[in-house]
Formats: sequence, structure tokens, C-alpha cells
Amino acid sequence: MANTFLFFLLLIFSSNIIFENIYACNQSERSSLLSFTLTLSSPLLNWTSADCCNWEGITCNQGGRITHLQLPSKGLKLKEGIFLSSSLGNLTHLTHLNLSHNSLYGSLDQTELFLSLNDLEILDLSYNLLSGVLPSSLPSSHIRMVDLSSNRLHGAVPSSSFQQAWNLTSFNVSNNTFSGPIPSSICRPSSSSLRHLDFSFNNFKGSISSGLGKCSKLQVFRAGHNYLSGSLPKDMFNSTTLEEISLPLNSLNGAISDGITNLTNLTTLDLSYNQLSGVLPLHLGKLSKLKHILLDFNYLQGSLPLSLMNCTNLVELRMGTNNLGGDISMLNFSKLSQLSKLDLRKNNFFGILPRSIYSCKFLKAIRLNYNYLEVQIHHEILSLKYLSFLSFGWNKRLTNVTGAITILMGCKRLAYLSLSSSFLGDEMPNGVEMADFNGFQNLQCLCLSSCNLSGIIPSWLSKLKKLQVLDLSHNRITGSIPSWLGTLPSLYYLSMRFNQLSGEFPKELCTLPMLVSGQTAAQVGRVYLELPIYYRPSADAAFLQYNYLFFAPYIYLGHNCLSGNIPIEIGQLQLLRLLDLSANNFSGNIPDQISNLKYMETLDLSMNHLSGKIPASFTGLNFLSRFNVSYNNLGGPIPSSTQLQSFNASAFEGNLKLCGAPLPNKCQTTTGADAPNTSTQDVDNKKHQIPWFYISVALGFITGFWGVCGPLVLMRGWRYAYYHFLDNVQDRFHVMIAKCMASMRIKFV
Ligand SMILES: *[C@@H]1O[C@H](CO)[C@@H](O)[C@H](O)[C@H]1NC(C)=O
Ligand SMILES: *[C@@H]1O[C@H](CO)[C@@H](O)[C@H](O)[C@H]1NC(C)=O
Ligand SMILES: *[C@@H]1O[C@H](CO)[C@@H](O)[C@H](O)[C@H]1NC(C)=O
Ligand SMILES: *[C@@H]1O[C@H](CO)[C@@H](O)[C@H](O)[C@H]1NC(C)=O
Ligand SMILES: *[C@@H]1O[C@H](CO)[C@@H](O)[C@H](O)[C@H]1NC(C)=O
Ligand SMILES: *[C@@H]1O[C@H](CO)[C@@H](O)[C@H](O)[C@H]1NC(C)=O
Ligand SMILES: *[C@@H]1O[C@H](CO)[C@@H](O)[C@H](O)[C@H]1NC(C)=O
Ligand SMILES: *[C@@H]1O[C@H](CO)[C@@H](O)[C@H](O)[C@H]1NC(C)=O
Ligand SMILES: *[C@@H]1O[C@H](CO)[C@@H](O)[C@H](O)[C@H]1NC(C)=O
Ligand SMILES: *[C@@H]1O[C@H](CO)[C@@H](O)[C@H](O)[C@H]1NC(C)=O
Ligand SMILES: *[C@@H]1O[C@H](CO)[C@@H](O)[C@H](O)[C@H]1NC(C)=O
Ligand SMILES: *[C@@H]1O[C@H](CO)[C@@H](O)[C@H](O)[C@H]1NC(C)=O
Repeated sequence: MANTFLFFLLLIFSSNIIFENIYACNQSERSSLLSFTLTLSSPLLNWTSADCCNWEGITCNQGGRITHLQLPSKGLKLKEGIFLSSSLGNLTHLTHLNLSHNSLYGSLDQTELFLSLNDLEILDLSYNLLSGVLPSSLPSSHIRMVDLSSNRLHGAVPSSSFQQAWNLTSFNVSNNTFSGPIPSSICRPSSSSLRHLDFSFNNFKGSISSGLGKCSKLQVFRAGHNYLSGSLPKDMFNSTTLEEISLPLNSLNGAISDGITNLTNLTTLDLSYNQLSGVLPLHLGKLSKLKHILLDFNYLQGSLPLSLMNCTNLVELRMGTNNLGGDISMLNFSKLSQLSKLDLRKNNFFGILPRSIYSCKFLKAIRLNYNYLEVQIHHEILSLKYLSFLSFGWNKRLTNVTGAITILMGCKRLAYLSLSSSFLGDEMPNGVEMADFNGFQNLQCLCLSSCNLSGIIPSWLSKLKKLQVLDLSHNRITGSIPSWLGTLPSLYYLSMRFNQLSGEFPKELCTLPMLVSGQTAAQVGRVYLELPIYYRPSADAAFLQYNYLFFAPYIYLGHNCLSGNIPIEIGQLQLLRLLDLSANNFSGNIPDQISNLKYMETLDLSMNHLSGKIPASFTGLNFLSRFNVSYNNLGGPIPSSTQLQSFNASAFEGNLKLCGAPLPNKCQTTTGADAPNTSTQDVDNKKHQIPWFYISVALGFITGFWGVCGPLVLMRGWRYAYYHFLDNVQDRFHVMIAKCMASMRIKFV
């Protein structure tokens, strides 16, 4: 009996649910949704059943009115010519709208979304293709969160936008092309709920006017990568709730005032790449929660406040490229147990690096180069188990390179090691100490240039299977180029120029796996560097920054004593972009096979004893932008191509029998095909006069190139580089250089 009763009860209950469900969805709103799907180019949504409240991404209230529409990352695309439909504007009870990471386009001020959605609290349209300007006010007075980041919106952010937005806590318009001033009036006593403000990656201009101090709950303020100028607004330091201030890549100037020490909750301070000057606040270290201090590329002076050594939570301390100084031995690092990155590059620090640095057990990256420091390598460095980036060249030079290398090779994770100009005329480490060499197993980049080292290229290098970049230039290395270099599986950048290497160009070097096949090259992963490395295209240019090894496939062997023929196997190095064999004793013909190197941008064979003709196939080297065969024994006509004739005559001079444009001497039509027999003596005589002329022409050319192309490369390269999309960057960069070179050549012609 009881069972039957229960059964009836259940029946009534469940039919009730069914009954309610059938009528749950407001039919008029259902048709609004359907008309929205009609504007989409592909019916990706499975919106078919009667009750729209059960549809994917839809939530209703009890009255059957739609409150949530959440379809992020659904690949939604609008039909050609149709903008984000105003049909959604009929969903007047909507509180949550999340259509982020789709391909919606259209102009926001033309949709009625902002006018009719009067209940909206959460609006996330980030990562779409929306364009146009921002409507003059935000959708509703209930709005709490607005994320329009990563679209194509432009124009100003009107102050009026925020007038009704009493409860706004988060406003993110980063990564658009907004301009005009930062609307500081966003902070009014009434808008006390604002916590997150993100204006970064736009074109905002002018100074940050005061007003931020009125946001009494502001935690995150980001406006980096804009064109902001002026000084840091003083009242910003009244927002004591601030946890993050990120304003990198602007033109802010003036000093960082002592007021900053009021922001006791601050964890991140990123003011890098600005024009800040003055000394650092003495009590900066009072901000005991600080984790990330990024102040590199400014004009800061004075010494590091000792109080910083009290910031026990510090993870990242980056002060590179400033005018800071002082005796580094005064600093006691022993409390910085969380420190992971220390960058004091290019300052005026002096003194002995204190051993307390070794107590920072989590250090991943140390860069101290370009100071006046004494950095002795101690065995204690081996206790830094996570160390992967180490650079301390261009300081006081050390002795005992063998001792240093022997210790460092025990750093198991070391990926980037730069010790250029760190040693003073020692012998290349290669002795018995290195016999059972088993270190550097993760090393990708080894720079030991400008150390005046003698001896031969050491064989322990042959065990570095991950080595991608090897720079031993500007030393006094003798002996021949070992054939095993060609077996290093990851190597693609090799610089040995300005040494005393002799012997031939080893055929085996032409089998370098990374330069032979694009497939191999694609397999060698680019590992993230713990600190960005910088590249300065010219002396007066600003630095480009890369978080990966940005080197291109280059082989520099210029200014040595190499001899013999250039092997025909060189044609296998298909991916090579630069080959410099200048100022050696190479003889014989220029191998035709060089024209297989389709990506070649720079080819310098000048100042050798090469004879015969310039191969006609060179006309196919379409990317060639620098070329030099001057001061050899070449003869015959210079092959005609848009590329070769566009170079300056100086690229060909010093070859007595060479003729045709761009050289002034015309070829005699009756001349036989054979290369002329130039007497080597003539050329040798000439060769003694070379350097000055050669160098001045080369300098002239380089200056010309960077004068014209530098600013362009810089402007664009800079912003792209900062996005850390290196592959992308490099390609754009090269296309840009190629284009620029091409345009310059047109001017020369
Ligand atoms: C359904 O929505 C429309 C507006 O779109 C409204 O006028 C109507 O009253 C709603 N119906 C019910 C039953 O709530
Ligand atoms: C579409 O939804 C219905 C009911 O919600 C379901 O039965 C069907 O399997 C779904 N189809 C696809 C392709 O997901
Ligand atoms: C939106 O509502 C208006 C009137 O309330 C109606 O005329 C219009 O057709 C509706 N739009 C859609 C797409 O349902
Ligand atoms: C929108 O959806 C995405 C993906 O689920 C989510 O990461 C994001 O936080 C949502 N936006 C808001 C404002 O909740
Ligand atoms: C703002 O938030 C408070 C507290 O959540 C709420 O009581 C008030 O109604 C909200 N105001 C508006 C305009 O939505
Ligand atoms: C703003 O949006 C971007 C994504 O476009 C995100 O990376 C950033 O963290 C957001 N800013 C804040 C303060 O949440
Ligand atoms: C900016 O937006 C583009 C396009 O949506 C996206 O690919 C890129 O990752 C975004 N950049 C940042 C820094 O968020
Ligand atoms: C900071 O706040 C104090 C008191 O709250 C006020 O007197 C002072 O004027 C404010 N400073 C600025 C620069 O607004
Ligand atoms: C700092 O942060 C703590 C913990 O998050 C919080 O309780 C405190 O109110 C904050 N102080 C200020 C001045 O905002
Ligand atoms: C810092 O705080 C003190 C006291 O809390 C206040 O008097 C002073 O005005 C603040 N400084 C700034 C620059 O806001
Ligand atoms: C560091 O902290 C200690 C103890 O808290 C304190 O005595 C010392 O004065 C602080 N040093 C500096 C430079 O602020
Ligand atoms: C070089 O350094 C190593 C290791 O620190 C040490 O054992 C050796 O004695 C040093 N040699 C000279 C000549 O100083």
C-alpha cells in the first residue's frame, strides 16, 4: 500500500518536472537564439530540442528567461557580411555573456548589446575580431566584469563609460589599438569596487593623470606596451591595496618616489623599458611581499638599497642596463632564499661577488656581464641545482679558464653559458683535467669569444650533443677545424672568426645535420631561456629582446689562415643563411654548388685567392643581401641578375680580370670563355692596400643599411620580439630586412 502511494507520488512529481520543462524555455527568447545561429557560418551548435534551457551554453532562471550564454572557444564564425547579431540583444535577462575565443567580428557600437542588456554583470568577448570604437557607456549599471581584450577595437576609452558602473571590479581592454589617454577618471569614490585594470598592449598616449588613488580597492594596474609619458602619478601610491604595477615599454620618466613604500602589499613592480632616473627609494625593501622587481632598461642611478636584501620573497630581481653601481660585496644574499633570477647586466657594479649568492638555492639565472666585478667561480656554484643561465663576461678578466670550465661543466642544467671576454690570454681548456669529460650535457649556447685563448679547438666539445650555438671568435686558436664538428647534432651557429686556424675547410662540416635538412632543424626544440637575450642591430639602436636563442644558421670562419679549395659539398648546407670565409687563403674556383644555398643572405668570400668565374647560377640566390668577392683572382663577366648588379662595385673590386656591371670596365665581346690567368703577384700587391679601403666601404654600407632599415626593423621588431613568438619574429624580421635591402638597392641603382 505504502509502495503504491509512493509510486503515485513519484509519478505526480516527475510529470510535474516534465510539465515544467516543456514550458520552461521562453519561446520568444528561443527564437532569438535560433536567429543568432542563423548568422553563424557553420551550425556547430546542437541547438535542436524544444527546451532551450537545456541547450549547451544556456542557463535559465526559474521564469524560463535566459540568464547565461556561455560559448567560449566554440569556433563560432559569423557569415560573410554579418556582424555580431543584435538578436542577442533580445535576451534582456542575460547576466553572463561569454563568447571569448571565437571569430566574431563587427563593430561594438553598432550592436544593440550594449543598449538592451540591462541586467548584464559579466561580459567576456575577449579573443575575437571585434572592431570599431567603444560605445559611450558600458552595458548595464550591474556590470561587474568587462573583458574585451585581444580584439581590434580602437579609439578612446571614454570616461563616460564608467559613470553608471557602480559595481565594476575588472576592466580589461588589453591587446587592442585603443588610443588617447588612460581614463584615470575610471576611479571615482563611487567606483570603489575596481580591482583589476588592464590597458596594456595598446596605443595609449600622454601622462597617467592622477585619479588612480581614488580606486581604494585596486589590486592590479597594467598599462605596459603603450606610449605613456610623464612621471608616475603620485596618488597611485595612495592605492595601498595595489599588488601589481606593470607599466613596461612606455616612456615614463622621473624618479620612483619614496611613496611607493606605502604599497605594502605590492608583489610585482615592472617598470622596465622606460626612462626612469634618480636613485631607488632607500626603503624599497620595506615592501616585504615583493616577488618580482623588473626595472631593466632605465636610467636609474645610485646603489641597490640594502633593504632589498630583506625581501625574503624575492623571486626576480632585474635591474640590467641602468647606471646603478656600488660595491656588490656589500650585499648579503643569504635571506633571498626564493631568488630565481638575478640580472644586473650593464651597470657600474664593482667588487667581489659575495659567496652568499650561493645560498640562493633556487637560482636559475645569473647575469652580471658588463660591470667591473670580480667573479671567481667556486665549487659552491654546484649547489645551485637549477642554474641554467649564466653570463658574467666583460667584467674583470680572470685567470684559470680550465679551472672555471672544469667546475661549470658539473652544472647539470646549464643551457646558456656566456664567458666572453672573461679570461686573459690563457690556454683553451683541453688538458688531462678534461680527459673524462662528462659535463655540459644540456648546454645549448657556449660563448667564449674575445678571451685571447690559445691552443686548439678542444675535443670535449664533440660530446655536447645539445649545443646549438658555439662562439669562439676573437681568440688565438690554432690548428685545423676538426671534422667531428660536422657531427654535432644540434649545432647551427658557428663562429670562429678572428683566430689562427689553418688547414682546409673540412668536407665533414658540410654534413651538419641542422643545416642539411629542415626536418632535423624542426626537431631541435627551442628551449625557453630564463632571461631574455638582447640583440642590438646597430650602435645607436635600442635592443631587441628574445626569450629563445635567436641566432640564425650562420658559419663565420673569416680572418683565419684556412687554405685549399672550398669543397663542393658545401652545397649540402641548404639552410645556411650566412657564410663568411673572408680573409683566408682559399684558392681554386668558387663552387657552383653554393647556389644550392637558397636562403643565403650574406656571402663573403673576399680577400682569398679564388680564381675562375663567378658561377652563373649565383643569379638564383634571391635572398642575397650582402655579397663580397673582392680581392681574389676572379675573372670573366659578372653574371647578370637583379641581385648581383645591385651590389656596390666594391663587392667585386680587386679582381683584375672581372668585368661588367657594376664594375666600370665593360666586358670585351670577343673575350673567350676562359678565366683569365691573373698573376697572383698583382693581386697580392693589391691585397696589401686592401684593409682600409675595404673596411671603410664595408662600414659605409653597414651604416647605410642600418640608417635606412634600422629604425623600421627596430620599431616593428621590438614590439613583435616582446611577444616572444620567436619563429614568427624571425621570419617577419628577415622578410623585413630583405624588403628593406631590396628597396635600398633600388636607390643605389
Ligand atoms: C518571453 O519573453 C518576452 C520578451 O522576449 C516577454 O515579452 C514575454 O513576457 C516572455 N514570456 C514569458 C512567459 O515570460
Ligand atoms: C544533440 O542533442 C541531443 C539532445 O540534447 C542528443 O541526443 C544528440 O546526441 C546530440 N547530437 C550531437 C551530435 O551531439
Ligand atoms: C527582438 O525583439 C523585437 C521586438 O521586441 C522583434 O521585433 C525582433 O524580431 C526580435 N529579434 C529577434 C532576432 O528575435
Ligand atoms: C569565459 O570562458 C572562458 C573559458 O571557459 C574562461 O576561461 C573565462 O574565465 C570566462 N570568462 C569569464 C569572465 O568568466
Ligand atoms: C552592487 O553590488 C551590491 C552588493 O553586491 C548590490 O547590493 C547592488 O545592488 C549592486 N548594484 C548594482 C547597481 O548592481
Ligand atoms: C587581460 O586579458 C589578457 C588576455 O587577453 C590576460 O592575459 C590578462 O591577464 C588580463 N588582465 C588581467 C588584469 O586579468
Ligand atoms: C593579442 O591578440 C592576438 C590576436 O587575438 C593574439 O594572437 C595574441 O596572442 C595576443 N597577444 C597578447 C600579448 O595577449
Ligand atoms: C593620499 O591620501 C591622503 C589621505 O588619504 C591625502 O591627504 C593625500 O592628498 C593623497 N595624496 C594624493 C597625491 O592624492
Ligand atoms: C594586504 O593583503 C592582505 C592579505 O591579502 C589583506 O588582508 C590586507 O587588507 C591588504 N592590505 C591592504 C592595505 O590592502
Ligand atoms: C604614505 O602613507 C603616509 C601615512 O600612511 C601618508 O602620510 C603619505 O601621504 C603617503 N604617501 C604617499 C605618497 O601617498
Ligand atoms: C633588515 O631586517 C632586519 C630585521 O628585520 C633589520 O634589523 C634591518 O635593519 C633591515 N635592514 C635594512 C637595510 O632595512
Ligand atoms: C685552477 O682552478 C682549479 C679549480 O678551482 C684549481 O684546482 C687549480 O689549482 C687552479 N689552477 C691554477 C693554476 O690556479
